[in-house]
Amino acid sequence: MRIVITAGATRERIDDVRFISNRSTGKMGYALAQAAKDAGHEVTLISGVSALPKVEGVSMEYIESAAELAESVKRHFVQADILIMAAAVADYRPKQFVAGKIKKKAGDMTLELERTEDILLSVSQLKHPHQTVVGFAAEAVDIESNALGKLNRKKLDWICANDITREQCGFGVDTNCITLYGINGKKIELPFGSKTALATEIIKQITGDEK
Ligand code: CTP
Repeated sequence: MRIVITAGATRERIDDVRFISNRSTGKMGYALAQAAKDAGHEVTLISGVSALPKVEGVSMEYIESAAELAESVKRHFVQADILIMAAAVADYRPKQFVAGKIKKKAGDMTLELERTEDILLSVSQLKHPHQTVVGFAAEAVDIESNALGKLNRKKLDWICANDITREQCGFGVDTNCITLYGINGKKIELPFGSKTALATEIIKQITGDEK
């Protein structure tokens, strides 16, 4: 199958020196790309900011902002059987980019932000019945209801819900806690483990090769 995976953090520029970003390191998305490749699939990994080395045998594309990611995802999605959005995408970006470097002034400063495009929501408009779309939900409260809300709102086939309040789960660490929810009402609580082991399990489930 052709599988497109996004990973890492987006960066939204304020000026030529500063940006808004998040704590994503790309580990989960890169592990998914490796697992999908090892399972024999044709993989494209669209990577935001990450210090991780390229995944061998996978087609790599690098992006910086949510807008660049949206363009890249839509371009690759046309040919894809499966899209997995593991990237931590900025929900807001500075309303204005200032060329050069903003000088400080006396007093406080307010930065005006605007919403970025919700990529999964856009993809749901382009989706054909044979295509599978998988999202991630990093939640600190009401994990199940928030994840199911995103599954339905973004018309996903699967969502990987992530309890970021649990020890050694979520951003920056090598392990994770993931429950998979499917549109068909399936709920699969994966055992706590390495992102590598979880990635293998997620790929098996979403490709229907779970035996
Ligand atoms: N995502 C996206 N486009 C965005 C933001 C997020 O496609 N502009 C994707 C992420 O890659 C992830 C899922 O949507 O797969 C996360 O859902 P989202 O509702 O954006 O979660 P949060 O950013 O955590 O926002 P919140 O919990 O505040 O709703």
